[in-house]
Parts: sequence; structure tokens; C-alpha cells
Amino acid sequence: MTREMTEPAADSPTLDLSLAPTPPMGWNNWNTTHDRPEFNEEMVLATADFFVSSGLADVGYQYINIDDCWALPDRNSHGDLVPDPVRFPNGIKAVADYVHSKGLKFGIYTSAGVHTCSPIGFPGALDYEEQDAALFASYDVDYLKYDNCHNEGRDAVERYTKMRDALLATGRPIVYSICEWGQNKPWTWAKGVGHLWRTTGDISDTWESLLELTKLNMALAEYAGPGHWNDPDMLEVGNGGMTDVEYHTHFSLWAIMAAPLLIGSDLRTVTPATMEILLNTELIEVDQDPLGIQGAPIRSEGGLHVFVKPLVDGSRAIALFNENDGPAEISTTAAEIGLESASSYLVRDLWAHTVQESSGAVSADLPAHATAVFRVAAS
Ligand code: GLA
Repeated sequence: MTREMTEPAADSPTLDLSLAPTPPMGWNNWNTTHDRPEFNEEMVLATADFFVSSGLADVGYQYINIDDCWALPDRNSHGDLVPDPVRFPNGIKAVADYVHSKGLKFGIYTSAGVHTCSPIGFPGALDYEEQDAALFASYDVDYLKYDNCHNEGRDAVERYTKMRDALLATGRPIVYSICEWGQNKPWTWAKGVGHLWRTTGDISDTWESLLELTKLNMALAEYAGPGHWNDPDMLEVGNGGMTDVEYHTHFSLWAIMAAPLLIGSDLRTVTPATMEILLNTELIEVDQDPLGIQGAPIRSEGGLHVFVKPLVDGSRAIALFNENDGPAEISTTAAEIGLESASSYLVRDLWAHTVQESSGAVSADLPAHATAVFRVAAS
């Protein structure tokens, strides 16, 4: 019998999908620091401390991930990447050890190109895949974000698969995040290559960006599931460019779309309003539901959206999202969201944390840009 060209050879390595049974949760510095000097060891260690002291770790956030600019612009005489001694005076292994000592996991970044994305021009891993993967494993890294800059026009599937194989060859379990911005439709080929893949360009801390990324990502629900997630980019919650209502919408939509929840703010200066969003365990439960279904709109008309996400206990999470610049009422029914017929339903409001009984109708009066999230089940 001849083997189909697309099937992996029997001895080819396979990605361990069980490393990301639900969308990864954690923190990454990029959205708050970009390449500025405050991205350094002190910040990363303080963030790990805060994960534990604030309760973020208790509700499921576990990865402390560092982004671009952690290395020097040149490899050493052995061809190895070298941590920037100003930002990371004790190296990266010491940071990983500290993060691990807190019961957390540690992630690192590089690019599937000759340089990373920063204009400073740090070295990327293209043609250094085995060497860099081995270095990351020697740091005890648990997560790699692999970017797409300076790729010299080389084939994306080959570049990302080569790093997958290099990571597997280290023998260390490492969650593999493909940051290819959706350019080559990774949702069509990256299941089994990476655990998650960016579906969009970079988020910025604006309402327009949030809306654009939501619309791209919400059309791709069928491609996501346990061990293979769509990634509409990291959270901007708390970074100051959007209103409180818009940040509630951001977190609501990421949760209903089973997106990775990677906090992108400086937790050393976080406000109670931001923490109230990040610590909403009822929304985290929706995001992390073990069925792993990405919620999708069953109705989108005139900027008013009804998202539905089936949950493992048979209930449905729904997000009623008003993208418009004025207030609106959005309504749906138990039948429309796919629940079996019953004489009454329990409707739990996941922001107000209240329950109401209903004979089937669910609706919300929403200010501009607001989202209500409910969990609905037959009572
Ligand atoms: C790209 C990525 C971002 C970030 C920067 C770092 O733009 O998409 O998420 O990692 O590079 O330079």
C-alpha cells in the first residue's frame, strides 16, 4: 500500500497535543513594554511574584513569557544566542529557575527568520533551529513563541515544522506558539505543527484593533480545539487605550472564542478595575472549558452579535456584543442557542454574577461597545 504524501512517516515526531488541552493562560511583556528598557529581569521576577500573591496563579494563569529583545544583537563564537546582560544580568536560566520555583512555567521568544522583529535586529532561529531549541531546553523553557519576521520568503510550513521537530528533538515538553500572523492561513496546516497560531496581525490598544482582530478570528472557529488553538493575539486589558467597557468586551470575546489568555499589562501598576476583569473566574471557566469549542456568532446583524459556545456540562455560554457607537438591545432564545426545549432555564450573568430564571428569552440592554456574557442551562 502506498502512503499518502500528506501523512507523516511512521517514525516522524509528533506534537504532544496534551500540552495545551485548553488555551494557554499567562503573561507576556510585549504589549506593555515593546522594546523599552523596563523589560528586564526585575519586571519578570516581580510578575512571577505577583502571579502568586494576587491569586492569578490560583485561577489558572501559569506562563510567564518573555518576548523580543531578551538577547544581544550577535551570537557568540559558538553560534549561541546570548542574553542581554543589562536586561538579564543573571542570564535566562536563572529567570526560568525563579519562575519555576513559584510553581509557574516560563516561555521565550524568537523568530523563524534571520532576525527577530525588533528594528534593533536580534538574531532569529532560521537555520539555527536545532541549536536554539537545544539552548532553550537547557534554560528549561516551557513555551516558545516563534515569530515570522525576516523570513527571506522561505516556505512557512517548512520553517515552522523545522522548529517543531527541533523542539521535539530536545525531549523537553514545550508549548509551541506559531506567530505567523495568519499570512499563510496556519489554521489549515498548523494542527500538529504548533499548539496555537496567530490568526491576525499585531493587536494594538485601540477599539479599532480589537474589532478588526475579533472579526478575523471569529470566522475561524471550526479550526480550533484541544491542543490546536486560534490565537487573536495577547490581551491589552489594562494598558489604558480603551475604556473599561471596551476592556470588558475584550476579555468577554477572548473567553467566548477560547483564545489564549496572555495578560499584556504591567502587573506592578495594575488597577483594581483591571484585576476584576482578569480574575473573572466564570469567564475563565468559559475560555478553559474542556470541550475546547471556539464560540462563534450564530447571528451578526447591524453590528449586533450573538456568540454561542457549547460547554461540557451541556449548558451554553453566550456573548451578546454591541459593536456600535450607540446603545442597543440584543436578544436571543434558548432554542436559537441550541438548548433542548424545557419549561424554564437558568440564566447566569457572568459579569454581574447573578442568576435569573427564564422561560427561554435572554436579552441585554447594552451601552456602546459593551458585551454581556451569560451561561444558560435548562433548570
Ligand atoms: C511581532 C509579533 C509581536 C511581537 C513583536 C516583537 O510583531 O507579532 O507579537 O512579538 O514582533 O518584536
